[in-house]
Amino acid sequence: MKDRNIIITGGNAGIGLATSIALAKQGANIYIVSRNNDKAEEAVKTIVAESGNKSVKYFVANLSSQKSVRKLTSEIKNEMSVVDVLINNAGGTFCDFTLSEDGLEMTIATNHFAYFLLTNLLLELIKKSDFARIINVASGSHYKGKMDFESFTKKKNYFIMKAYEQSKLANVLFTNELAERLKGTNVSVNSLHPGFVKTHIGNKNATWYSDLFWSVATTLGAISVEDGAKTSVYLASSPEVKNVTGKYFDKCKEKKPAPLALDKELGKQLWKKSEQLCPIA
Ligand SMILES: NC(=O)c1ccc[n+]([C@@H]2O[C@H](COP(=O)([O-])OP(=O)(O)OC[C@H]3O[C@@H](n4cnc5c(N)ncnc54)[C@H](OP(=O)(O)O)[C@@H]3O)[C@@H](O)[C@H]2O)c1
Repeated sequence: MKDRNIIITGGNAGIGLATSIALAKQGANIYIVSRNNDKAEEAVKTIVAESGNKSVKYFVANLSSQKSVRKLTSEIKNEMSVVDVLINNAGGTFCDFTLSEDGLEMTIATNHFAYFLLTNLLLELIKKSDFARIINVASGSHYKGKMDFESFTKKKNYFIMKAYEQSKLANVLFTNELAERLKGTNVSVNSLHPGFVKTHIGNKNATWYSDLFWSVATTLGAISVEDGAKTSVYLASSPEVKNVTGKYFDKCKEKKPAPLALDKELGKQLWKKSEQLCPIA
């Protein structure tokens, strides 16, 4: 992976940090995206120390803000002329219903709209690569997901897991629709479930009981971040998946996603709705 430019959102913590370290060990140029300057600097130090690779840089952006994603894209374009791998990994859960500055429910804003906008704005640079891979970190939670476009902007029986499952279903639908749109190009796009991983995702934006529940559950049953990063690293670097696109992976193996995730009409509707609420131009 030497000299490959890899962008990893949420590369300062959890699965994203472990993915960054593993890909830095393979010699790639690593660019993490973090919403916090101090956390980004700390993560860069960790990635350099753990990998011995000094080609590690960061961008600061709040991915739930479309303005911030657009600014990030300009900064990336100033820094490099080619993006070889984009890993959309940053995500979150939100106990309470909140709207982003763009008027979008925060779970779908962070977990879907950031993937949608960043990917589309970087496509020009990704197409210039002879490697050209997009990886969307989804979740097995998508199997329970249902799409309700009204909930993107309105409070409708809000529940943390319902919103999260919907956003992760959106990741797989977006992946599949993008793969259709990229047919005939050199760009591949795949989605994945990282496993149930010991990170702090469930401790953020949490109530005391959901915080406690996540801490106990991850202590008892979750895999390490290194193991959780394996499928992202595989899709980002393995020659085995060179010509694979529009697929969903779990434990570095292709897996059938939920029937709804394979609904082409729903994928097209999601794309249309996403463009309305988040113009690409
Ligand atoms: N952990 C699991 O069991 C599990 C299972 C299935 C899927 N996933 C998926 O894996 C991905 C990574 O999650 P994780 O478990 O590694 O969680 P994590 O440790 O909380 O990492 C999430 C990363 O995303 C960043 N992030 C969140 N909101 C952001 C925003 N608005 N702008 C910029 N960065 C933002 C976080 O930044 P901060 O450090 O500033 O919070 C952090 O770097 C997510 O897409 C998640 O849905 C995780």
